[in-house]
This record gives sequence, structure tokens and C-alpha cells, in this order.
Amino acid sequence: MSNHLVAPSILAADFANLEREVKMINNSQADWIHVDVMDGTFVPNFSLGIPVVEAIKRHAKKPLDVHLMIVNPEHHVEAFRKAGADHISVHVEVCHHLQRNISQIKSLGCKAGVAINPHTPIFDLENVIAELDLVIVMSVNPGFGGQKFLEHTFQKVAQLKELITQNKSGAKIEVDGGVSLQNSRRLLDVGVDILVAGNFVFNSDNPTETIRQLKDL
Ligand code: DX5
Ligand code: ZN
Repeated sequence: MSNHLVAPSILAADFANLEREVKMINNSQADWIHVDVMDGTFVPNFSLGIPVVEAIKRHAKKPLDVHLMIVNPEHHVEAFRKAGADHISVHVEVCHHLQRNISQIKSLGCKAGVAINPHTPIFDLENVIAELDLVIVMSVNPGFGGQKFLEHTFQKVAQLKELITQNKSGAKIEVDGGVSLQNSRRLLDVGVDILVAGNFVFNSDNPTETIRQLKDL
């Protein structure tokens, strides 16, 4: 058994029963609640916004791991912090001043993360890796839950692990998209610290048990 964390993605939950879903996560072995925010511009879909993050926070007993798939995140991170975000990750592809974005998130008292799309090289993080708490390696193109896991992720995680070690960074590696029991063991073996899983958890017969299985690897 390794020391990894499991973060169920609330995007795949029943939005008409969010309180029940959050309580299920509270009473499970999950470590964080992953919250996907989509703006219909950076990604071709909308998901949820500030009032819903507040509603989740009212019931959550675990940290909210907020993944912003939005343009101009610097205009909104403060509001997400106030709504209850404990970690905020922004996409490298939309940040012209990434180092400033990271400092801003940290100045709000949040853990700071950067998410990278499947096409984005790990190399793009070289100059900020030492400052990061979290890197989200996207193993699908962001925008939708339930997509097929991209196999090149294993290689990317291994590269990222090397970059983290070289720079003596404390950044944790999170993998997001298409995560299941089929690929999780191998992901942990190449250096993943946090498994995000949406459909694999919420579309299973017993989500609490599925979380336990992901945690027990
Ligand atoms: C994709 C989101 C993911 C998604 C994962 O844009 O960032 O967090 O909810 O869902 P699954 O595990 O179903 O691929
Ligand atoms: Zn996500």
C-alpha cells in the first residue's frame, strides 16, 4: 500500500443531490473533493460556479481541490477562495503570467497548483516547479468527465517526477481524467501522489467501496 490520496471528482456526482454526495465522500476514505470549474471558453463545456462551490463547502469535511478550467483565472481566484477552495489549480495554457498567478493563489492562503493539458510539455513548468504545491497532469482533454485515459500520461508523469526531484520541489503529482482501477497501480508506480476519479467512483454500484479500492492500492 502506498501513501497516495484519492480525490473523487464531484462533476460526476448527482447535482440534484449534492448534499448526499458530499456526505458520502465525507464518510468514505477519500482525502479531498475535486471540484471542476468550466467556463465554456477555455473548455467546450460549463460545469459549476461560485454558489455551488459554497454549497459544497457547507457540507464538506474534506479539503476542496478546485480545478479552474477558465480563462483569466486571476479575476476569480479570490472569489473561489472565499467560497471555500483549499487548493486552486490554474491551467498553464491560459496564464500569460503564470508565476504571478501562483503567487496570487498562495497569498490567499491556498495551496497552488498548475494543470497541464495532454499536449503541453512538462518542460513548460521548469521555471515554476519549485514554487508549486501541486501539478495536475490531465490524462484526457479537459471539458468532460467519462473520457478515455490517454496512455502517454505514464511517460509524462515519470518526466514530471524527475523535474520535481531535480528542483527539490515539494509539488505533488495529481492525475485527472479516465482514472480507474485499471491504470491506477501503474500511475502510482511512476510517481503519482493523488488520483482523481469521477465516473469510475460515481457510476459504480457502491461509490464508498470504489473509493476504498482506489485508496487500498
Ligand atoms: C475533466 C475534469 C475531470 C473529470 C474527471 O475535464 O477535469 O476532473 O471530472 O472525470 P472522469 O474520472 O470521469 O474522467
Ligand atoms: Zn478536474
